[in-house]
Amino acid sequence: MLSCLLRGGCSPRLCLWALLLLPLVSLHTLNQHGRRSHGVNERPKLLLVSFDGFRWDYINRVPTPNFHNIMDNGVIVEHVENVYITKTYPNHYSLVTGLYAETHGIVANEMYDPVLNRSFSMETDSVYESRWWEAAVPLWVSIQKAGGRSGAAMWPGSDVKIHGMFPNKYLLYNASVSFETRVERLIEWFSAPKEAAVDFGVLYWEEPDESGHNLGPESPLMDVVIAGIDEKLGFLMNELKKARLYENVNLIVTSDHGMTQLSSDKIIELDEYVSRDLYTWVDKSPVVALLPKEGKLDEIYQKLVDVNPNMVVYKKEDVPEHFHYQHNVRIMPILIAAKEGWTIMQNRTGPFMLGNHGFDNNLISMQPVFVARGPAFRKHYIKTSMRSVDLYPLMCHILSIPPLPNNGSLLNVQDLLYPEPTVSTPSPAPRVYVYSYAPVVGSFLGVAMVLGFLCFYIRQVTVKQLPSLKHRSREMSQPLLQEDLHL
Ligand SMILES: *[C@@H]1O[C@H](CO)[C@@H](O)[C@H](O)[C@H]1NC(C)=O
Ligand SMILES: *[C@@H]1O[C@H](CO)[C@@H](O)[C@H](O)[C@H]1NC(C)=O
Ligand SMILES: *[C@@H]1O[C@H](CO)[C@@H](O)[C@H](O)[C@H]1NC(C)=O
Ligand SMILES: *[C@@H]1O[C@H](CO)[C@@H](O)[C@H](O)[C@H]1NC(C)=O
Ligand SMILES: [Zn+2]
Repeated sequence: MLSCLLRGGCSPRLCLWALLLLPLVSLHTLNQHGRRSHGVNERPKLLLVSFDGFRWDYINRVPTPNFHNIMDNGVIVEHVENVYITKTYPNHYSLVTGLYAETHGIVANEMYDPVLNRSFSMETDSVYESRWWEAAVPLWVSIQKAGGRSGAAMWPGSDVKIHGMFPNKYLLYNASVSFETRVERLIEWFSAPKEAAVDFGVLYWEEPDESGHNLGPESPLMDVVIAGIDEKLGFLMNELKKARLYENVNLIVTSDHGMTQLSSDKIIELDEYVSRDLYTWVDKSPVVALLPKEGKLDEIYQKLVDVNPNMVVYKKEDVPEHFHYQHNVRIMPILIAAKEGWTIMQNRTGPFMLGNHGFDNNLISMQPVFVARGPAFRKHYIKTSMRSVDLYPLMCHILSIPPLPNNGSLLNVQDLLYPEPTVSTPSPAPRVYVYSYAPVVGSFLGVAMVLGFLCFYIRQVTVKQLPSLKHRSREMSQPLLQEDLHL
């Protein structure tokens, strides 16, 4: 009908039909909108993708048509503040729990727990010990407890039994399994028959982190790597389309952290200041965690505190509040934080990287990319900033499950979503249509006037102007609707 009007070919008879049908159509649309994309028994679908170490500004550095396609048809958040320390394991667990590292307990890629007297390293099978993970409940466990289903392709922690559960479908971590294979598994899980299909999926890919470390983010060679990630994203989008999932699945593409350039001129050698005999080296640069030998804490602290302007030495109890990195036994008594671009080593022998992350989460270079699209998300919407812990309550909202206590806030990110139909007004609007004629008559009169005017007016408008009008009307209505949401 709208297209009939827009083409200007509106005969009086057609207008009459349109007049009769319009109230039905608009009621129907309202219903559709109220239930949005999911029917009575069907949960909304959500796929969370992390390209490790994909810095927020990589999408503006080389052509990345697939990232841009998602943001043009969805949302982008330009600046995402992730959690301290800006390392892979802590941040991936924050994304699926909404908790700071000190609360979810995965405080680093390399940890020591003095209570358990055990060490954790992302390089060893220690990651499979459940107790490291169980201070928190990841979203894939929560959704299964709520009766939904989840599938995980190599997200850190997703092949570990946590609170007695694995994801319904998951892959054992194996870096040699290609991105394409990971995607194919996820597509199978999402498109399984209704009862078996997953509602929530997580997908992890090791790049561009690995290249960022090896080449340094400022290397021109990174351009090729970034373009390659965009192609991988294109593959994912295409497979979703082929499986007829693309329009139904909410797709979030983000990362755990950014990356900054290092230099062999910017090395701090701890051996110059303090003997190795005084401590155990627990975690590495740029936030070195030291466990002092019995009674040596103050001696180490005094030897390090003022000796080098390119590092900041903290006793655990003095770590600044805004890092939220203090209240956990796995955070070591002494932390040495390198300033951006600097590397802390014991001495110069050993591997040196040209790029790293882990630095202050307030640094812009540590920020990850964030784009999303799908039935839950607004279209062509740019948001300036969010915190990565806000993603968890957002995902819970999309999946219609109650969030566990967390450090994020849905209010901070609600504007990324299509406004819900307002439920705050207590008047039972639908009943008015059922029990009273007056509003119906009113609507008809109003509609008749509007239609009459449109029929007259639209004929005057040239055909050339019309396609963009239809396309834009939906976008233009969004900011107005959005105002309601904030009231
Ligand atoms: C901690 O474990 C190590 C072996 O991994 C052992 O040598 C040491 O005695 C243990 N420490 C305590 C306090 O139990
Ligand atoms: C990891 O994946 C590769 C490629 O699929 C395979 O050849 C290899 O056997 C796998 N390793 C393990 C331990 O499963
Ligand atoms: C650096 O440390 C290693 C042990 O990690 C040691 O073998 C080497 O001799 C040291 N190099 C210098 C120059 O002190
Ligand atoms: C983060 O959330 C947890 C769970 O609600 C809470 O225990 C903790 O105190 C919060 N941390 C901060 C810094 O608010
Ligand atoms: Zn990472």
